Amino acid sequence: MRPHPNGSTHKMPSGDWIAVLDVGSSKVVCLAAQDDGEGGFDLHGLAVAECKGVKRGVVSDLEETSRAIDAAVRRVEQQVGSPVESMVASISGTHLEGHNAMGFVPIYPRSRQISREDVLQVINHSRQFMIPPDREMIQALPREFKIDGQRGIQRPIGMNGSKLEVTTYIVTGQTTHIQNIEKAVTMTGRKVDQVIVSALASGLGVLTPDEIELGAVVVDIGEGTTDIGVFQGGSINYSSTIPVGGGLVTSDISKLLRTSPEEAERLKVFHANASAAGIDERDTVEVTQLGHPEPRALQRKVLCEITESRMSELARMVRQQVEKSGLYAVLPGGLVLTGGASLMAGTDKLFADVLKHMRVRRAEPKLFGGHGMDTDRAGLATAAGTARFALQCFEDELGPVSGSGLKATIRSIFSLISGKS
Ligand SMILES: Nc1ncnc2c1ncn2[C@@H]1O[C@H](COP(=O)(O)OP(=O)(O)OP(=O)(O)O)[C@@H](O)[C@H]1O
Ligand SMILES: [Mg+2]
Repeated sequence: MRPHPNGSTHKMPSGDWIAVLDVGSSKVVCLAAQDDGEGGFDLHGLAVAECKGVKRGVVSDLEETSRAIDAAVRRVEQQVGSPVESMVASISGTHLEGHNAMGFVPIYPRSRQISREDVLQVINHSRQFMIPPDREMIQALPREFKIDGQRGIQRPIGMNGSKLEVTTYIVTGQTTHIQNIEKAVTMTGRKVDQVIVSALASGLGVLTPDEIELGAVVVDIGEGTTDIGVFQGGSINYSSTIPVGGGLVTSDISKLLRTSPEEAERLKVFHANASAAGIDERDTVEVTQLGHPEPRALQRKVLCEITESRMSELARMVRQQVEKSGLYAVLPGGLVLTGGASLMAGTDKLFADVLKHMRVRRAEPKLFGGHGMDTDRAGLATAAGTARFALQCFEDELGPVSGSGLKATIRSIFSLISGKS
């Protein structure tokens, strides 16, 4: 061990380590991690760079995004002491569409042992459907296998049967948006070797294995998007992205109270609440309005009414999505809030009020390593889950089905849930 520049004793990676990238609407996160052999990972590098080149999860300014990626990755390279050539990147945005697809293969001769090839073949069969030319498949996650009609099988290899079926969770995205993330990375001289849907990553970042098995929904409220992932039976069953996040809350405050964006952000982070109900009418906050050099006292309740309006709209949109998943009533793990904007006081209570009968908790990813945090941990759920996915999930590569030629890989998260790799 040698001391890390921040003073802690930091073990440098000796075996395989990977680099992960989360290009968010407010910041880029790069982290370097290594499997710890116990179902988690050791963090060897972590850097966060502010980024203004992404709007609602998709790249709007390539140069700026590329600059931020380069800044974050360079810092991680310094921490790790070697170059990062390729990364696993998370992808978000309302262009993503997920659905459950079925696949089936007969096994010949009947009742023989099922092989790895059969499994790949059945998954491949589930992936055969028409994808519009402007979209591509970015995720294919086998959720559940059936042998001769018997459900609930996670590892069919070696079992005997005559008919193998699979349900695969498939996500497609718009090729241009996916290519833009890749392009922003390529412009830094590095490459993306795989992508993961952010909702899945955030779930893997903060949900417990029990929650993934029994049923829970992760809600990652960021700056420009809210990613929702519904998990059950050891896998993700539904995901979607809502184009609402903390950025809209800030712009509501700025417009309605006529303040600069910086002042609105300060009011949001330090004084707002997601519900105005319990706020004392006599509470005041100092607000500096545009065109007025001196701050004025404002009823804090007025600020909280503004934030409540947007946050309750978001909670209702989340409820609609959970209803659409068809699993609302069967999620004993409840709703798990993460993402920077979930840190607003009262957010958990508001969601518990809107999503009736659902247990709500707030969560941050567990990150162990020698690096100090330079951001809210809640904003790191996606990056942490991407690392777990890349390090611990069983993987089989299949050829690309369409699109830009990014490898469409198949990974199952079963291995991660059962703690084996
Ligand atoms: N204590 C806090 N209270 C309220 N909001 C907060 C707090 N801390 C951070 N935020 C908000 O969290 C948001 C950033 O969250 P996060 O880092 O998860 O977003 P992102 O990953 O960059 O964006 P996205 O996931 O939408 O692409 C910002 O809107 C910021 O104002
Ligand atoms: Mg995010």
